[in-house]
This record gives sequence, structure tokens and C-alpha cells, in this order.
Amino acid sequence: MSDPDNRNSFLSSLLTSLEEKSKVKKMPPSSLLSLSSNDYLGLSRHPGVIEASVKATQQFGTGATGSRYLSGNHPLNLKLERTVSRFKSKGRGSGLVFSSGYHANLSVASVFGSHAGAIYSDSENHASLIDGLRLLKRQVHVYPHGDWEWVKMHLQKTGASHPMIVTESLFSMSGDFAPIPELYGIIRDKGGLLVIDDAHATGTLGKNGRGALEYFSLDFDPDFMILTGTFSKALGSLGGFAILGEKSRTVLASLARPLVYTTALPPGILAASCRSLEILEDSSPLPGRLQALSRQWQENLTGVSTPSPIVSLRGRLSTLRQESAKLAQFGLSLPVLHHPTVPEGEERLRLSVNLTWTPRVEEALRDTFSERLGEFR
Ligand SMILES: Cc1ncc(COP(=O)(O)O)c(C=O)c1O
Repeated sequence: MSDPDNRNSFLSSLLTSLEEKSKVKKMPPSSLLSLSSNDYLGLSRHPGVIEASVKATQQFGTGATGSRYLSGNHPLNLKLERTVSRFKSKGRGSGLVFSSGYHANLSVASVFGSHAGAIYSDSENHASLIDGLRLLKRQVHVYPHGDWEWVKMHLQKTGASHPMIVTESLFSMSGDFAPIPELYGIIRDKGGLLVIDDAHATGTLGKNGRGALEYFSLDFDPDFMILTGTFSKALGSLGGFAILGEKSRTVLASLARPLVYTTALPPGILAASCRSLEILEDSSPLPGRLQALSRQWQENLTGVSTPSPIVSLRGRLSTLRQESAKLAQFGLSLPVLHHPTVPEGEERLRLSVNLTWTPRVEEALRDTFSERLGEFR
């Protein structure tokens, strides 16, 4: 067989195996309006954010021209790092900006995991955290979702010191909260490190949208915590960040390959992220409005009142498929999520409450989910 024939037969058998396991991923048609949008506050369409981005693009061009270690360290990177550390940690930590949240998590998990006495990772953590831990090629204790007592008992049994616990704060698939105060307590006792991925909580949780620490009334602690997150969700832009102590920042900036070996963010994107943060810092009513709307939809659809904008709808696969198809008839996209995005057998629809929803969208939701609504009326 020639080389192309060889490759073709390899691809055909790989495709057949993916099809058999229902693992061929399809992107939804772009003509449909997505109900899983992470633009919770609508900041990607905010006139002030667009203006800041256009101005920076006109002034500095569209591209960053290189890695931050060569030609790409535009001063807007440093401005954004100061702004995000002020917003997320009241300036207690130092900020480091990455080209995506995925890069930030990959870097933090792989760099700091190599120095930990033991590593604990929530079973529902995002792929970017899991992939970072995989790079370590060492044992990771995956603990049952949210079960801080499991972690505490395990540490008592093994006597490991300086553990690293890695968790999302607001879980992207279930929409529930990690027990941050309890995990922080464990870490302080053991002299370890708590890595909190605040991707979905930034802009959505806490009185001013500062995230999980504001929600739980905790201060950022540079000795025991690292916060990560993204500008691509409620901040309506692109890129990721880590907030950490000064020394840790220097270590991370030196060892994080996803920072060193990739092109920096373009000026227009950096300016957009800065502007979004400044809008929120200016006592914006947007996080409060989102929390009120989220409570309403959570109560309606799940019977539980929570300010989380992520509504996780479980049910029989056939029902989920019918609901998804009905929404498509209204021009709305909400695909059924399968393994490995969610655990096996826990297929669901994941609705992201958005301040941009029009009355027409809300009407379509009420119509589609009328039976679920009936349960809680
Ligand atoms: C919990 C969580 N962490 C990290 C990321 C990665 O962020 P980004 O899209 O900026 O790479 C995502 C987004 O998919 C996420 O949901």
C-alpha cells in the first residue's frame, strides 16, 4: 500500500470507531442563536468595550507580532495585569496575562503541581486543568465532586504535606459552587496551595462581579491561593489570567511554556478586556441584574434558587433531544452535552442565562420547557 492509502485506511478505521462511540463532534449551524453563550453580561456588544478595542486596533494594529518574550509585550499587557489583579484581588496578588484561559490553567497546573506534596483535583474540573495535571505524569487524586471531607480524610490518612488542590469555583457544567472556604481551610492547615479556576464566576458572582472570593466573603491570600480565569466569558473578550504572589508570578512567567511559546494577544483584545473590567469596577449594575435573572430561571427550571447563571438540565436522553430540537425550531441552539464533556450517563442541556435575552428568547424557553416549569409552579 502507498503512504496515502495507508493513511486513508487509518483515518477510515478511526472515524468508524468514533462514529460507533457517538464521538464525532458537530458544530451547531451558525444561523442559530446560541443559548450556551458565555457572554453573560452582554459586554462583547457594549459600545464602550467596542470603542476601546477599535481605538487600540487603529492605533497599534491588529496583531501582537510575536510572543511576549520577543516583540509582543505591548504595554497594554501590563495595564491589563494591573487592572485584573486590582479587580480580582484588590491588588493583593500580581496578574499574569495569557493568550487564553486554557493556557493559564495548563500553565498553573503543570508548573505548581510539580512542587506539591500531593495533588487533588475535583472530578468535574475543566479539561484545561486536567490536561495541565496530565503533563506532570504523576499521581493525581481525583476526588468526588465538591467533597472537601474526602480530601481532608485522605490527607489525614496519607499524612502528605504541602498539597495542591485544584478546583473550579463555579462549575462550568453543573453550575454549582465549589466549597471554597472549606478547601481553603484545609490548605492553610497543611501549608499547601489552592488553585481556583474562576472562569465562570468572574463578572457573574459577588456584589460587584469580582468572582468566587467576593461571593464567599474571602480575601485573596497570595501565600495559599492562585486564581485563574478568562477574559472570554462574562468579560466578552479573549485571553486568560493568573493572579498569584509576586515570587510565584516570576516562577510562572519563567516556566509556563504556553506563555513563552505562543503569540501574545492583540492590542484591540487587551484594550477590550481592560475596558470591561473598568466598567465592572465602576459599580456596574450588570452582575446584580444577571444574578436576579439567574435566580428566576434556576427557580423556574430546577426548583432551586441560586445566583448561578449556569442552569444544568438533566433528564432522559430522548427528552433532552426533543427539547433541543424544539429550540432549534425557534432558531435557538442548545445541543445535548455528552461524555467526555460531562460524566458518562449524565447527558444534559446546559443553559447560560444571559442579560442579552430578548422577550422572544424567554418565550421560546417557556414554551420548550413548559413541562419542567409545570413541576415548580
Ligand atoms: C472552567 C473553565 N476554565 C477554563 C476555560 C478556558 O478558557 P478559554 O476559553 O479562555 O480558553 C473554560 C472555557 O471553556 C472553562 O469553562
